[in-house]
Amino acid sequence: MVKANLIGVVLLMEVILRFGVDGLSMQYYMMSCPFADPIIKNTVNNALQADPTLAAALVRMHFHDCFIEGCDGSVLIDSTKDNTAEKDSPANLSLRGYEVIDDAKEQLEQQCPGVVSCADIIAMAARDAVFWTGGPYYEIAKGRKDGRRSKIEDTINLPFPTFNASELIRQFGQHGLTAQDMVALSGAHTLGVSRCASFKSRLSNVDPTLDSDFAKTLSKTCSAGDNAEQPFDATRNTFDNFYFYALQRKSGVLFSDQTLYTSPRTRNLVNGYAMNQAMFFLDFQQAMVKMSLLDVKEGNKGEVRGNCRKIN
Ligand code: HEM
Repeated sequence: MVKANLIGVVLLMEVILRFGVDGLSMQYYMMSCPFADPIIKNTVNNALQADPTLAAALVRMHFHDCFIEGCDGSVLIDSTKDNTAEKDSPANLSLRGYEVIDDAKEQLEQQCPGVVSCADIIAMAARDAVFWTGGPYYEIAKGRKDGRRSKIEDTINLPFPTFNASELIRQFGQHGLTAQDMVALSGAHTLGVSRCASFKSRLSNVDPTLDSDFAKTLSKTCSAGDNAEQPFDATRNTFDNFYFYALQRKSGVLFSDQTLYTSPRTRNLVNGYAMNQAMFFLDFQQAMVKMSLLDVKEGNKGEVRGNCRKIN
């Protein structure tokens, strides 16, 4: 009897894990919008073919979405006359790629109106961008609902590029992410660029953690102004482990990048990922899956927006 009950419980757990009960699941859109995955993938692939730099933008957008109010599409909401939204915060001004999400959303609304959330679109677009640039492919559960709050002041909880390793570990820890998750996720800086404004403070004082030749490269970049772009590594549109090589050479662009190598708490992880790309990919995909589940809104805790820029 006890055994039969136990089997019953295990079977129920299996059903919940696989198909979710008003929750997230891998097959969430299987019946309600079977082409959600390919529609998003094609939209992302077409956008990246036209502009490969958008891959970085989509991955960053997912991070900035998940760290504020959970992965709920709050970063996509436009400001209104009564509300200044997250996207107008200084921390988000260089976010890009909103039109890729809008494009996917429009197609999805035609196929299956009111079904696929904006939060899920961002999570899937980031996943597809990682794969398109040569990174690992990972499956994610779907079923995130869109939030109704997006306030500029909440973005104070994004990490600052001036943070040291301990501050980064603490902040990621507040989201249930380990130091290893944090270093692996920082490896997303294998894609994209930083603007001079985000690192110029490193150039005014002598920063002993910065290679002197690389300091000259950064100064040269900044001679073109605050918005001048510096790639994080030598291959800005390819997902690889070159970012970690750069840290070993004291050529991290942000202070928050270089600190991962300077600090004894995280240096071994940097060395491990520099030596073994497969290990970086594995830890990165696990950490992305974890990040994609931060404070997710399920059921009636959120909505499926008709337009990703506005609450319904
Ligand atoms: C560890 C703490 C982190 C800090 C302090 C940080 C900070 C920054 C800063 C300052 C920039 C440049 C912004 C600009 O100057 O316009 C940037 C770019 C970027 N960040 Fe992070 N970041 C962190 C973690 C992450 C994570 C976890 C991800 C994704 C999983 C990520 C993805 C990106 C990408 C892809 C870019 C390039 C964007 C582009 O080229 O458009 N970052 N980050």
